[in-house]
This record gives sequence, C-alpha cells and structure tokens, in this order.
Amino acid sequence: MKPRHFLTLLDLEPEDLRGLIRRAAELKAMQHRGAIHAPLRGRVLAMIFEKSSTRTRVSFEAGMTQMGGSALFLSPRDTQLGRGEPIEDSARVISRMVDCVMLRTFRHETIMRFSEHSSVPVINGLTDAFHPCQLLADIQTFEEHREDIRGRTVTWVGDGNNVCNSWINAARQFDFQLHIASPPGYEPNPDRTRAAGDRVLLTHDPMEAARGSDLVVTDVWASMGQEEEQRQRVRDFTGFQVNAALMSEAAPNALFMHCLPAHRGEEVSADVIDGPQSVVWDEAENRLHAQKALLEFLLERPR
Ligand code: CP
Ligand code: NVA
Repeated sequence: MKPRHFLTLLDLEPEDLRGLIRRAAELKAMQHRGAIHAPLRGRVLAMIFEKSSTRTRVSFEAGMTQMGGSALFLSPRDTQLGRGEPIEDSARVISRMVDCVMLRTFRHETIMRFSEHSSVPVINGLTDAFHPCQLLADIQTFEEHREDIRGRTVTWVGDGNNVCNSWINAARQFDFQLHIASPPGYEPNPDRTRAAGDRVLLTHDPMEAARGSDLVVTDVWASMGQEEEQRQRVRDFTGFQVNAALMSEAAPNALFMHCLPAHRGEEVSADVIDGPQSVVWDEAENRLHAQKALLEFLLERPR
C-alpha cells in the first residue's frame, strides 16, 4: 500500500484537516496538564534539513520524544545527500529504516521525488513553494482565539511566497476569504490563485486588503535562498509593512500572525508584533501540537 504523504494541504481531505486541528487542541490541553501520551513508542522520524530551522526542528523533535518515539536530525553537510547521492536512492534507503520522514528543501520537486520513492509517509517541513505544517498551527491558533475560521477574512501582506501559497490552499480547504496584497512582481503564482477561485482576492494595496479583516498575516521579504535579493526587496516592499496604521484598517479585534523568524522594522513594526493583537508566540507553540496531531494521524493508522 502507498504511504500517505503531507506535501501540501491539498493532500488531505478538508474533514481530515479539521480533525487534525481538533486533535491538536486536545493534545495541547493534555500537554499543558502534564498528561503522558506515548502512542509512538519505538517509532522514528528522520528529519532532513537542507535549510536552517528553529521552530520546525524543535517542534518535530520534541513532539516525537513526547509521544514516546525519537527523531534523527540529518543535514546534507554530513550525509551522502550533500555528496550527490540521488534523492531517489536516499528515499529508498532512509524509509526502510524509519517510520516517517520530514524534509525541508529548496525545490518542491525534490520532495515530490523523495515521496515517490519513500515507503513511509513524507512530511513537507518547507519547500520554496509551500509550508503546510505552518498552516496547521496557524489555523489552530486562529480558532483558539476566535473560533471557526470558516467564512472569515484573512489578509496576507507581502511576498507571494511558500507561506502565502499555503494560505491560498488553506482558504480552499478551510473555506475562508483571503485578501493578498503583494508588490508588483511579487504576486503568488497565478495558477494557484486561479485554483482558489473567488476565495482569493489579489491587490497591490495593503490598506484595501486589510479593510475589515479578522486576521493580518505577513512574512519576511526575502526568504531562505533569496539572501542576495534582500536589498532590492527592501526597496520593492516599501509601503508593505504591517504597522499600526495598517492594523487600524482591519476589524477592531483583528489578530496578527507571522510564521517567524521576523524582522522588526521591515515587514512588521515592533509595536504590532509585540502588541496586544499579536498571537505569534501561541502560533509558534502550536507548531508542536499541530504536528503531533499530524504525526499521530500519519503513523497510527496501519500501513
Ligand atoms: N516558521 C518556521 O518554520 O520556523 P523555522 O524556520 O525556525 O523552522
Ligand atoms: N518564507 C520563509 C519562511 C520561513 C519559515 C522562508 O522560506 O524563509
């Protein structure tokens, strides 16, 4: 039987995603009251990081340990992946030894090739195109503060990047409106926005995008791998900072989110990210709970 992978939010049915968010809240409550829950005893997650990480690494590793299993950190620097061993061969070999693989890489095609040759579930820990695990935590965070996201309005301000693409998928799967304001030339891939139909509205005006919104989200202007574009992007993203003036266009009780790491004074002002509407620390913590729900879902079912 083919394993079930989680490369984008479209890999799971909306009901399954809803189930994960509910389960993440239960796992969070259990964790906070000190309950031991170890359904993954003896199970191993391999984590391959071709890019840096704080949250993704710590949350997956802590999550596996808390559930009775363990996690291996693998980097191309000290595995044969960095010396040119084909991704297909690496997938065949690693998946024979572990129960699940999390991969953070550059091209989305790399994780697709890896998953095609893996005998165990593969989880996308971020590619240039998508960051679906982030969205599980983000939806959990919205709903723990504001209840059902269905029918609400979310505003994305900034680059049409991997996290933005996952917000587009989330709008489809969780059924809400997404307003995207990107500078000209930095819009998300038109095929992705088209596939979301009237759930997504594109503009170049952040104020218009934020108007009446229940949640404002942003991310760095230059993602990992785009470091040499940083200076140009700082110029191109002028006017796209989430600050108090922008938040005042949103609904009065609007939340602010950022996947982190953040650059205060660039994509977000310090008074917003450190202010009362910001839920970024809950959002970061929820990576742990949401991914534990995902690991349970992918690993507990019989293979
Ligand atoms: N948000 C996120 O994925 O953070 P890391 O890059 O630290 O894992
Ligand atoms: N868009 C950012 C997200 C980091 C979690 C990046 O890809 O670097």
